[in-house]
Amino acid sequence: MTAETPLPVQVVDTMEHLDGRHPGYRRAHARGACFTATFTPTGEAAKYTTAAHLQGEPVSATVRFSNGSGNPAMPDTVPGGRGMATKFQLPDGTSTDLIGVNLPRFLVATPDEFLALVKALAADKDAGTGDQANLQGFLAQHPSSVPAFQALGAMGVPASFGTTGYQALHAFTWVNGDGDRQAVRYRWAPDLGEQNLDADAVAHSELQFLIDEFVERLGAGPVTFTLHVTLADPSDPTNDATQVWPADRPEIVVGTLAITGEVDDQDHWAAQIFDPTNLTPGIDLSDDPLPRLRNSAYSISYERRSRGE
Ligand code: HEM
Repeated sequence: MTAETPLPVQVVDTMEHLDGRHPGYRRAHARGACFTATFTPTGEAAKYTTAAHLQGEPVSATVRFSNGSGNPAMPDTVPGGRGMATKFQLPDGTSTDLIGVNLPRFLVATPDEFLALVKALAADKDAGTGDQANLQGFLAQHPSSVPAFQALGAMGVPASFGTTGYQALHAFTWVNGDGDRQAVRYRWAPDLGEQNLDADAVAHSELQFLIDEFVERLGAGPVTFTLHVTLADPSDPTNDATQVWPADRPEIVVGTLAITGEVDDQDHWAAQIFDPTNLTPGIDLSDDPLPRLRNSAYSISYERRSRGE
């Protein structure tokens, strides 16, 4: 890796350095499982966006839940990011993706900052001293990253993939039939409520319990999430996922996702790609620079894992 190596390649190489290279697996959110679902929109979004899945008719969806680590052996009993990637199947045969994690805000605002962050974490790993001196140095230089790290540090261990909320974190732009544009942020709220395991339950859990727990839970009936969208004020930042918008911004209820069972073919679905830039007419990227980096990084990860690397 040299200074001329494109930034997204440097990012993925450094992620591999951090979590190890695990052939065939995603370079982040390595262990996961896919489920079938139906999304039923309320219709409340229709005046803001022409997106086909947000009008009135239900659509099929596939959901991949994951543990955030790039190491597929990472225990679920360790607090940390959990992911929910949803692919909506649209009536015209295309799809659109919505990807969330159980964090309230992101760690950095720009691609350069993300690279600096993963390099600092890698330097701490190489130093092996356990004092996280490089991360502390990064945070001293990037105070806007501190709140997300505090949130990460305060995380519990979710009792289920179905008992934690997931945020898409970036701003996206909705466009309606008149061409009006509205900046939004998405969040999935679990209808089961937020539930973490207590210390005793963590101590008595299997190390990788989340997928089995979810499959077993689905045996008793669908697990549902409600999709909420916050409507930004024009003064709210849309290019910085470290900043949350003021709590009094209006929210609308966009629809309900009912997750019904496991997909028939986990191997087929494990090989797919969920990409935050896979949008559909009626939804545009905002001026947040991170989704474009993610698009490149996810493609690099996809190419490597598709080759069995
Ligand atoms: C900007 C910096 C980021 C980078 C470089 C990055 C990188 C990656 C990579 C390389 C993968 C594996 C992709 C694949 O092989 O298919 C991945 C997966 C994932 N990332 Fe990110 N990510 C970033 C930010 C985020 C953010 C902000 C979120 C939360 C909204 C997020 C949530 C996820 C999830 C849920 C997955 C698993 C998707 C799936 O199940 O297929 N990432 N990320």
